[in-house]
Amino acid sequence: MTAVLDTQVPPPAGVRDGAFGNATHLVCRACGEKSPLGPFYACMECFGPLEVGYDFPRVTREQIESGPKSIWRYAPLLPVPADIATFRSTDPGFTRLVDAGNLAADLGVRKLWVKDDSGNPTHSFKDRVVAVALSAARELGLNVLACPSTGNLANAVAAAAARAGIRSVVMVPSNLEQQKIIASAVYDTTLIAIDGNYDDVNKLASEIAGEEEGWAFVNVNVRPYYAEGSKTLAFEIAEQLGWRLPDQVVVPVASGSQLTKIDKGFSELIKLGLVEDKPVKIFGAQATGCSPIVQAYEAGHDVVAPVRPNTIAKSLAIGNPADGPYVLDVVRRTGGRIADVDDETVVRNIVRLARNEGIFAETAGGVTLGVTARLLAEGDLDPDAETVFINSGDGLKTLDAVASHVGPKTTIPPRYEAFTDFWRSYTA
Ligand SMILES: Cc1ncc(COP(=O)(O)O)c(C=O)c1O
Ligand SMILES: [Zn+2]
Repeated sequence: MTAVLDTQVPPPAGVRDGAFGNATHLVCRACGEKSPLGPFYACMECFGPLEVGYDFPRVTREQIESGPKSIWRYAPLLPVPADIATFRSTDPGFTRLVDAGNLAADLGVRKLWVKDDSGNPTHSFKDRVVAVALSAARELGLNVLACPSTGNLANAVAAAAARAGIRSVVMVPSNLEQQKIIASAVYDTTLIAIDGNYDDVNKLASEIAGEEEGWAFVNVNVRPYYAEGSKTLAFEIAEQLGWRLPDQVVVPVASGSQLTKIDKGFSELIKLGLVEDKPVKIFGAQATGCSPIVQAYEAGHDVVAPVRPNTIAKSLAIGNPADGPYVLDVVRRTGGRIADVDDETVVRNIVRLARNEGIFAETAGGVTLGVTARLLAEGDLDPDAETVFINSGDGLKTLDAVASHVGPKTTIPPRYEAFTDFWRSYTA
């Protein structure tokens, strides 16, 4: 046994043996106090956020490689039962790691990869976290899957619940992109639009989670399990690089959960001996119109002061990020940085990624590529190092962001002469 975290805390009555695989307990990220595995998300001692701890057995590359082509190949490293792949889920993950040679040349970097999570079942990385949260909900006997969401999470929850045959309730700010509203409602979820921003929606969801028994708000009361799903981004990147770690990774940040769990995922691979130990610098990306963690980083603070979001990158518009202090810790500890770009730069970089690599990203991807370019220009990212940036969502969900910037070159009648007239002047 490779005991990575070796304190066993017995689970509460009613949780079946093996319900959480190799996970053994929850641990407070603030004070280190341990809690049993269960429907808990805040520390009994200090109210700090909990995360999952494990006692990992030996896990081999071969064992993982022979698993399903989804996040479930990493089941031994997640808080899910060993037979998780037999349950009905959307089976997310195993998305492309694109060798972005054109973009690398455009940016002047030696080696650049795009981890393209728009290829997930509902076209964002949120399918990963929801799949793990759904498993926890099932094991804990919670039978309504719910969430407050900036859009993508609502899509993922609604789809996962439909496939699992359970009820879902998703709550979103009413000003969300139409594509994201429809791409939730189509699954026959109970979609509730709230007149307020995400932070208002989140506050209401927390109140409901405290009152309604049997509800799993994936990113509230089962958040410790949910968050573990993002580790699979790190696992896949390493496996797809041939069981190697990259030098630097750029990650979009809203609540900050994804960024902190990518770091945790790399650390676990090292502890388990699945990759050679080496430092990975983690960089965060926010839109200027919602950049509370950037502001704290630049002021040298450890805590994040909430802001009121105003950006086209609505998926990242969380003004009061739950994982803010942990993002600051990760970027400082790994030698990374968190930076922002304005909305005009976001749009330019959506187009830049599309034209260079044939990948149409949502606004979050424009933020991440924009920040990648900025960090290169400012000397924080090393152009000679191997870099990965995360494209976490699909441009078809945020069409309005680019609608006024791209379109037909002309409209002509269906006649050959009309075409040749156009072509002559167009290519002149
Ligand atoms: C497309 C996309 N990327 C990134 C994020 C940020 O995730 P996190 O809240 O884990 O920082 C979100 C969150 O909603 C998202 O929808
Ligand atoms: Zn605590």
